Amino acid sequence: MPLLFRKIKELRNHLNTLRCERNFSLGFVPTMGYLHEGHKALIKRSRLQNEVTVVSVYVNPTQFGEGEDYERYPRDLDRDMAVCEELGVDVVLAPTDEEIYPQGSKTEVYVRELSEVLEGKFRPGHFKGVATVVTKLLNAVQPDRAYFGEKDYQQLKIIQRLVRDLLIPVEIVPVETVREPDGLAYSSRNVYLSPEERESALSIYRSFLLAQEMINQGESNSAIIKEEMERFILSHPHVKKIDYIEITDPELNPKESVERGDRILVALWVGSTRLIDNWKVG
Ligand code: PAF
Repeated sequence: MPLLFRKIKELRNHLNTLRCERNFSLGFVPTMGYLHEGHKALIKRSRLQNEVTVVSVYVNPTQFGEGEDYERYPRDLDRDMAVCEELGVDVVLAPTDEEIYPQGSKTEVYVRELSEVLEGKFRPGHFKGVATVVTKLLNAVQPDRAYFGEKDYQQLKIIQRLVRDLLIPVEIVPVETVREPDGLAYSSRNVYLSPEERESALSIYRSFLLAQEMINQGESNSAIIKEEMERFILSHPHVKKIDYIEITDPELNPKESVERGDRILVALWVGSTRLIDNWKVG
């Protein structure tokens, strides 16, 4: 079993003791738990590239808006510990709220502009919560490398920017989205979907294939591609609402004409579940 720490001080003492014994590179995988194949890919990459891997499991309240799924977000630390053991994780940090947000906390981290587009428009405050907790976790663990999935592409871009802007000495390693065999991206929120809703959720991946096919056939007009994607997605019965379909360059600047390497980003509601996904244009 990996060592489990609830307190940052204890984690730091442990890592300091290890450092006195030997030199090692430290990989860090921050998660909100309920680990799935997507997380496993992050952990495996960290294990490949580092001698020691720390995984954090913390459902961060400040990145959930009012009326969002903070309370019902799936939690199962025993299961997460078993997954971490199976993958050879050395240490799990599962801090309490008080450890992360000591009473009287007044400091927040906010990445301007990047936090205001796409997800930021629909989830105000979300990225301030993410940027703040990731900064705290990076300070707590002080890893050489930290691993983030491309599934949350905007989050990845914000974290790359914040470590650059705040001079945090860590390499951010992006890891490709892991999909189920039928194309649905792994997400902890997939557990909310009924089988019928899951079928409608597949429209996201299939709309990416549709867009890619249009691009392969020579279509480069973003507006036309987005319109076709929207029409296709909305033909699925359980899709309640599309928050956005956007085509951007890799830095999230909107594009009118699509090229290889651009990103197509989608957020939508299937029943009462909000899903996001994105696609790198090939
Ligand atoms: O991607 C997530 O699971 C979370 O946003 C993160 C990075 C662990 C911060 O709470």
